[in-house]
Amino acid sequence: MRQSDYPIQPLILNRWSPRAMSGGSLSDEELMPLFEAARWAPSSFNGQPWRFILAKRETEHWKPLFELLVEFNQSWVKNASALVLIISHKTFEHNGKPSQTHSFDTGAAWENLALEGSARGLVVHGMQGFDYEKAKTVCNIPDDFQVEAMAAIGKPGKKEDLPPEIQKKELPSERKPLSELVMEGKYKS
Ligand SMILES: Cc1cc2nc3c(=O)[nH]c(=O)nc-3n(C[C@H](O)[C@H](O)[C@H](O)COP(=O)(O)O)c2cc1C
Repeated sequence: MRQSDYPIQPLILNRWSPRAMSGGSLSDEELMPLFEAARWAPSSFNGQPWRFILAKRETEHWKPLFELLVEFNQSWVKNASALVLIISHKTFEHNGKPSQTHSFDTGAAWENLALEGSARGLVVHGMQGFDYEKAKTVCNIPDDFQVEAMAAIGKPGKKEDLPPEIQKKELPSERKPLSELVMEGKYKS
């Protein structure tokens, strides 16, 4: 059980990234609320630069996205119900100028997605272990978009069904102390 130094919303404290999933499909009623949550994230100029390339496991889109993953991720993602490639628009739609915050904004949307999934009892696990260059080609990503990350979404499974070395990691992680993160006025090392 995680402990926070100050009281916060249990949803935030209790979200974590399990790897054990049971396989099977998720309906749109189960899956789409996560993207609905992402949709309501704040962004600079309300630009909403986030886009989500979705591959449900029962469709022909699953294999090409799954094959982008490094072997380690494939070993547990094989039991996910959906894969998502998260991309961000590098320029503003309203004036075509570069956005400084497209990744920052898209990170906010990703966290909304993860929190909504967690609140609904689903596994949502972010990933950077995949081929970013190949993802652009495989998913037909335009040049003015940046590939940010992938996420696996699924129904919770049994820890014992994971490969033994992954079982050891299957628990909520700790965090740096707040004193290391918050600095008054200037950066302090
Ligand atoms: C952008 C991003 C990329 C990640 N990449 C991977 C990954 O490739 N493989 C993996 O098993 N976990 C990955 N993780 C999960 C992190 O290791 C995990 O979020 C972190 O250890 C904090 O743990 P928690 O999410 O359980 O609180 C990633 C998480 C994020 C947000």
